[in-house]
Amino acid sequence: MIKPEAVAAGHSGKIIDLILSNGFTIVALKYTRLSHEEAGTFYAVHKERPFYGELVEYMAGGPIIAAILEKSNAVEDFRKLIGATDPADAAEGTIRKQFAESKAKNAVHGSDSDENASIEGAFFFSTREQH
Ligand code: CMP
Repeated sequence: MIKPEAVAAGHSGKIIDLILSNGFTIVALKYTRLSHEEAGTFYAVHKERPFYGELVEYMAGGPIIAAILEKSNAVEDFRKLIGATDPADAAEGTIRKQFAESKAKNAVHGSDSDENASIEGAFFFSTREQH
């Protein structure tokens, strides 16, 4: 997912270009916006965290781009490409190092396991939207 502040700043094209040039294939792609309820559901795993309310506000605050990506070792390789949660800790050349504003507004989200990738993919896309 490309998050609201990165979409609003006009970084989407560059981020998608980096994703493709690093060997990922796009299986599904959508420009959309999460309601507060949907953002809360998407990040339900963080419900007990002190930043949950702020996270939901931010993620519902503007349009996002959702995608399903394919590659061998995709979860691990994508997390490497996006870099650490906090851009201050992210390696040079990573998406978050180049485009994230802060630990909260960190430009992109990547699934943390194959299982969660399936759940998160199904959250945004029907099977007929996946190719
Ligand atoms: P993401 O990889 O999408 O997973 C959970 C998100 O919560 C994370 O990126 C950040 O946007 C946000 N987040 C994580 N830690 C913090 C924090 N300490 N304060 C505010 N937001 C955070």
